[in-house]
Amino acid sequence: MLATAGSAIGLGNIWKLPYMIGVNGGSAFVIIFIASIIFLAIPLMMTEIMLGRRGQKNPLDAMKSLAKEANVSSLWSWVGGMGMLAGVLILSFYSVVGGWVLSYVLSAVQGVFSNISAEQAANNFNNLLAQPLTLLMWHSIFLLMTMVIVARGVSEGLEKANNILIPLLFAILLVLLGYSMSVGDMSAAFTFMFSPDFSKVTSVAILSALGHAFFTLSLGMGAVMVYGSYLGKNESIGQTTLFIAILDTALGLLTGLAIYALVFANQLEPGAGPGLIFQTLPIALGSMPAGNLFATLFFVLVGFAAWTSSISLIEPAVAWVIENTKLSRIMASIILGLTVWLIGVSVVLSFNEWQDIKIAFGLGIFDSLDKLTSTVMLPLGGLLMAIFAGYLMKKQHIAEELGLHGWAFTFWKVTNTIIAPVAVIIVFLNLLGVFEKLF
Ligand code: TRP
Repeated sequence: MLATAGSAIGLGNIWKLPYMIGVNGGSAFVIIFIASIIFLAIPLMMTEIMLGRRGQKNPLDAMKSLAKEANVSSLWSWVGGMGMLAGVLILSFYSVVGGWVLSYVLSAVQGVFSNISAEQAANNFNNLLAQPLTLLMWHSIFLLMTMVIVARGVSEGLEKANNILIPLLFAILLVLLGYSMSVGDMSAAFTFMFSPDFSKVTSVAILSALGHAFFTLSLGMGAVMVYGSYLGKNESIGQTTLFIAILDTALGLLTGLAIYALVFANQLEPGAGPGLIFQTLPIALGSMPAGNLFATLFFVLVGFAAWTSSISLIEPAVAWVIENTKLSRIMASIILGLTVWLIGVSVVLSFNEWQDIKIAFGLGIFDSLDKLTSTVMLPLGGLLMAIFAGYLMKKQHIAEELGLHGWAFTFWKVTNTIIAPVAVIIVFLNLLGVFEKLF
């Protein structure tokens, strides 16, 4: 359970959710995000853990043996295959952002944030993005840290560290929230994030909110399946899921509040995009008592959270390679690590030298990878797992694994057979513009 929490809690909560809220206009996004967590992500997380515990292998082979058990086509194994590919693609930009966090640890140690102004904070971040070699160095360090752990095999030490570090991250965030409340504009932040304003709901915002519910809980690609395969037979899938989902969502929303209180007090731009936390948090951290120490601790903890998440992005693919080829774990880690590193180089360049290169729909390399994975591959993976578990698996097998009864089982069944498929399909069709043509 701790390992799954370690996978879920990461840059998705601290970095991505806050800026996505701003880019997508605030409260409408937040409300759709929370609804997606409750009606899609929680039931699908139970499904994914269940598939992993019953499949007991890497995602591709797990789906293959489950398909056999259910007497359906072995093509279902490709759900696992697509998931592993998604993990590789996500890690290639996740590692670059993880690198930003590491570079902020160094800045914090050096006291760069002391009494920093909003303008200086923004300049610092933009300067960082403008230096390809610096970004490349940090990306390489972060990825190396990840691959070393993966190459050695799932590490108990790191999981035990979660025990202390996740509560510590939570505590630090609460302090930050309190401080941000005293120097920032919390009521504006609250209104921005929670007052219902549905004028800003667009199909892109809906898909992004839905996609982020998958991203933040590590769903739709098989990461949670891997952890499911380690979950003991007697542990409750329902309780594990609920605990993680609540903790993870709370962490993200609290970070959002802390940040927007600063954004509105300093007349900053809520829609600033991926640099948001790096441009706002130093302002608060730099003016606090013992700010340098606190800032260092904060970025170290965020870096740690990113580290435990990144491992789960690549572990499924590594497991597949060693179970299906003659390669050792170390060789598999080196080959996949180099692949991720190379794609990451293009992500690094997309922030400077290759800024003008657009791939799909006018999006740059970083945005294309992010959108392709979070809004297409993860929801599609989740949808297929829901259909598989909801319609094809034998009732008795589901009952054995899930251990849900009464209304909880009904909720799982209805969300997996009806709500999740319908919601994901409608959102996809809507985005493709199919609806406009139909009506
Ligand atoms: N959930 C992690 C975060 O919020 C990122 C992550 C780890 C992830 N493993 C994943 C996202 C698998 C999607 C799929 O930072």
